Amino acid sequence: MCLPSPSYYPTNYYLLGYGNKAAHTLLPPIKWLVHGSNIDFLHKYAEFERLGVDVDATISVLSPWVELAYKVADPDTIKQITGPRSPFRKPSELYGALSVFGPNIIASDGELWKKYKKIIAPAFTEGNNRLVWDTTVRVMLDLFEDVWGDQKTVVMALLILSTGIFGMETSWRDRTVPGLGHKITFQESLRLVATNTKSYIILPKWAAELSGIQLAFTEMEMYMRELIQERSSTSSANRHDLLSSLIEANKLEDLDSALNDRELLGNVFVMLFAGHETGGHTMCFALFLLALYPDEQDALYEHIKSILPASGVPEYSDLPRLKRCHAVYNETLRMLPTVQAVPMVSTADTTLTTRDRNGETVAIPVPKGTAFSLMASATHYNPKYWKDPYTFNPEMFMGDWNRDAFIPFNTGSRVCLGRRFFETEATAILALLIARYKVSIKEDPKFANETFEQKKARILKTTQLVSLTPAKAPLVFTRRD
Ligand code: HEM
Repeated sequence: MCLPSPSYYPTNYYLLGYGNKAAHTLLPPIKWLVHGSNIDFLHKYAEFERLGVDVDATISVLSPWVELAYKVADPDTIKQITGPRSPFRKPSELYGALSVFGPNIIASDGELWKKYKKIIAPAFTEGNNRLVWDTTVRVMLDLFEDVWGDQKTVVMALLILSTGIFGMETSWRDRTVPGLGHKITFQESLRLVATNTKSYIILPKWAAELSGIQLAFTEMEMYMRELIQERSSTSSANRHDLLSSLIEANKLEDLDSALNDRELLGNVFVMLFAGHETGGHTMCFALFLLALYPDEQDALYEHIKSILPASGVPEYSDLPRLKRCHAVYNETLRMLPTVQAVPMVSTADTTLTTRDRNGETVAIPVPKGTAFSLMASATHYNPKYWKDPYTFNPEMFMGDWNRDAFIPFNTGSRVCLGRRFFETEATAILALLIARYKVSIKEDPKFANETFEQKKARILKTTQLVSLTPAKAPLVFTRRD
């Protein structure tokens, strides 16, 4: 149990807090009762602004007892927490939803995490990025040629563009038909699992069966086992990709470094999940923003046109020059960080510092066991680092910007391993798509009288599932020729 320190004033009181996982996960925000899961993204920096400090304390009274939690929007305090040898750890016990198929790198800590990282990190190589690029280009061309064909305009309610990790190259047509012996497609099972992991661990088995959620989990496991089986049976002598590295580790005799079957499945799942969910949602948000800000879309189009070769198909070597693509997805991740907060917990009594609105240093006494949330959603709207933070302005990422105040991939030792993977995939997707199609929001007479701000709020409406999830807002893709 952690008691609040009298010398650092708490701001918000709730009866139920993070300790009451079911209430915290399932209920909407209710003043004095429960904090709710999407409130931080709705508030962004507003609570910090009101307080005049960038570290906000929350006290939950029945959680199960008194629980103190801090939310941090100060890049300097975040560095104190995530820096080498700091007395903080990742509370992996909060990641139950991601462990449904087995222990894995994202939901572990300590020695187990080190073991997984040793197997997984070396697989994110330059060669792997090149493979990601080539796969993405092929998948996108397949979408344009085989699915969209010669239609002048295409309307899509929710276009999740992700090419898939592990070099899996499914055609867009295959994505609509369940695999042999399956009831739903791989994409559908992944989507359903991703949106239902929290309910799955809370619901009793009979309720999961009844609601149909169980089917998605069963299908997902079948798909993963088939994937492993298929890759195991092809020669892996010269393969250094991620899936092969995981399978090789499953065959090791040394139990300290080997992955058992559950660990193999658990890590395959989180890689599929990380590769699909965060990246796919970010690309969807990027297209919404480009549709809302047509001048930014035009600037991006002109930039891409100036770099693309005559074939219209960019090469891997064009990646560093496609700077405005990088700026667009960075700005998207600033405004809509799909992982909006990362939890940490103190492992010893310690003291942190932050600054108040007058620039004075303020000490924060931290008892052992105190919960922290490193808030990307608030840090990215902190006006000390970002000018006019509610406006989509990729230009901010074309010049010099504060790296410490940009934390969508986390920071410190638990930084995202797939950042380059995502950047490679996202650049190829934007360059190919925007060169060929103009993106706009589908007009609807129902919303004829809305202002720009109302429209923006409607299109950028999010829900907080495992990650920040876009609403279904229909987009129109109009061929440029
Ligand atoms: C827009 C895309 C992405 C975003 C915003 C993102 C964000 C993050 C964040 C915030 C974390 C830390 C999570 C936590 O500790 O709670 C993380 C961890 C991780 N991410 Fe990503 N990620 C993205 C894409 C990817 C992709 C494409 C992959 C794999 C292909 C990936 C693999 C991982 C792994 C393995 C970790 C765990 C690292 C560790 O704990 O050592 N991520 N990511």
